[in-house]
Amino acid sequence: MIGAGTMGHGIAYLAARAGCEVTLVDHAPEALGRAVERIAALLDGGVARGKLTAAEREATAARIATSTAAEAAATGADIVLEAVVEELGAKRRVFQALEGAAPTALLATNTSSLSVAAIAAGLGGADRLVGMHFFNPVPAMRLVEIVPHPGTTAASVERAVAFARELGKETIVVKDSPGFASSRLGVALGLEAMRMLEEGVATAPDIDRAMELGYNHPMGPLKLSDLIGLDVRLAIAEALYRATEEPQFQPPRILRDKVARGELGKKSGKGFYVWGS
Ligand code: NAI
Repeated sequence: MIGAGTMGHGIAYLAARAGCEVTLVDHAPEALGRAVERIAALLDGGVARGKLTAAEREATAARIATSTAAEAAATGADIVLEAVVEELGAKRRVFQALEGAAPTALLATNTSSLSVAAIAAGLGGADRLVGMHFFNPVPAMRLVEIVPHPGTTAASVERAVAFARELGKETIVVKDSPGFASSRLGVALGLEAMRMLEEGVATAPDIDRAMELGYNHPMGPLKLSDLIGLDVRLAIAEALYRATEEPQFQPPRILRDKVARGELGKKSGKGFYVWGS
């Protein structure tokens, strides 16, 4: 597992729970320390809720090693999964450096917005590379989007689907296209809700209630945007707008203004809602 941040630590935890031997890699040693603490908290939570015994907790923790040496960690691996920073160059460098160390491994990227084909371009092992888009928080969210690029073999898609199922996830297979299925729909809904707020159609809680009570969404689009982070939403909207030039992805002024003021949602205490500390 390359990248030990928000997503990497969660995926490593799940894989170890499923019985995999995991090496969690990060170039920042302090990120590895934080990831180990977060995984310990997840394991402790599992014990407290009666989901695993103390012995299973120890066995699961023992299946996770950490390293700053990516190539050594990837050597002989069955799966190399990447969740480093969302930058094309960084992701390409990870796979360029590791495809030789793991010559038969499934190569999976957790990118949320980049083209999987662009990440795979020029790799000898491009046919083994597929998008596996997990959601945050990884242990709780049930979906993994499986995103083959045109050169991904059917066998690699099958491996990715099987691995996601081993981790207890449901899968959908989505064409390598901007925003895949989840972000494309989710961002369109979120941005439209913001435009409705700008136009004074209804208050933020009432716009959210329209989806919660009228459509059975567990959470309305404005509250969800606050949880995801308005800066994150803006970056994804900008990327989708650049890729598609579709007007529904043009970020509304209210979103730009809030991000410029540092109102980033729950993490900053204020977004479309005020959040308690
Ligand atoms: P993060 O910033 O929490 O973690 C990224 C980690 O990768 C950091 O610890 C960083 O030190 C490390 N890193 C960066 N470059 C590296 C390299 N070359 N080698 C080794 N380690 C390196 O980021 P987060 O949120 O976990 O996102 C990771 C990926 O997952 C991104 O592609 C993101 O778009 C995607 N993603 C994020 C979601 C989220 O809600 N946070 C949801 C779904 C996908």
